[in-house]
Amino acid sequence: MCKNTKRPEEVHARYYPDNWDNKSISSLFIPDATYPRLCGVDFVTTIFNFKRGTAMTTVAVVYHSGYGHTAEVAKAVARGAAGVDGIDTRLVRVEDIEKHWQDLDEADAIVFGAPTYMGSASAPFKAFMDASSKVWFTQGWKDKIAAGFTHSGSQSGDKFNSLVQLFTFAMQHGMVWVGLGLMPGNNSSKGSVNDLNRLGGFGGSMTQSAVDQGAEAIPASDLKTAEELGRRVARVTLQFAGERALATA
Ligand SMILES: Cc1cc2nc3c(=O)[nH]c(=O)nc-3n(C[C@H](O)[C@H](O)[C@H](O)COP(=O)(O)O)c2cc1C
Repeated sequence: MCKNTKRPEEVHARYYPDNWDNKSISSLFIPDATYPRLCGVDFVTTIFNFKRGTAMTTVAVVYHSGYGHTAEVAKAVARGAAGVDGIDTRLVRVEDIEKHWQDLDEADAIVFGAPTYMGSASAPFKAFMDASSKVWFTQGWKDKIAAGFTHSGSQSGDKFNSLVQLFTFAMQHGMVWVGLGLMPGNNSSKGSVNDLNRLGGFGGSMTQSAVDQGAEAIPASDLKTAEELGRRVARVTLQFAGERALATA
């Protein structure tokens, strides 16, 4: 139960005194039975979403996967994000990007995912990066939340370089990077490959599976780690969206 819960009318009166209908705020989004559970970020985000006419904050996951492994990880990231109340997700394959630029433009957060090929993000993902220069010219993604993940065959496989590439890309777009936020797993005598963040990454989600096996061989701990990234991105995005709504109120 949160502290400092305010009635919707109180928040409305404070931040939006002019032209909103108190009744519709509380009846549409904050029924009496649920509003005591809403506070702080969640509460402000609800108001923000109402103001802009949508009930959802959107996390898009744009990825490339040559052989299906990174696709599974992308689904796990989206699953983690979708598990947070108020979050809608979009999964976009870079092969389909021409139909989905608008989805990315409208998203509140974009998570970038690529397999590590030859020590960096795969060429199709790089093609997407280059194509996004049209957005870069107008800084259309500026201040959106960003995060990244990569999958490889080797334990290291130079995955870090791929994450740095994704991070640098997000910085070029003026985005706000969210890291994994998990302590490293499997790094002590008590650890195991079942630990969350078993590969010990920080900048984003790193996952790995054998090159001679399909996506079903991706360890459950890796998929859970990817879900955690999605969950964190979702929560930070809600927080950011709420703060922005207050800042522009
Ligand atoms: C062209 C190519 C280059 C690769 N380079 C690396 C690499 O540098 N490091 C690594 O650990 N794995 C490397 N791999 C293995 C892939 O990262 C691994 O098979 C991964 O699961 C592929 O993901 P995907 O199925 O989403 O394409 C490479 C695979 C290919 C096809």
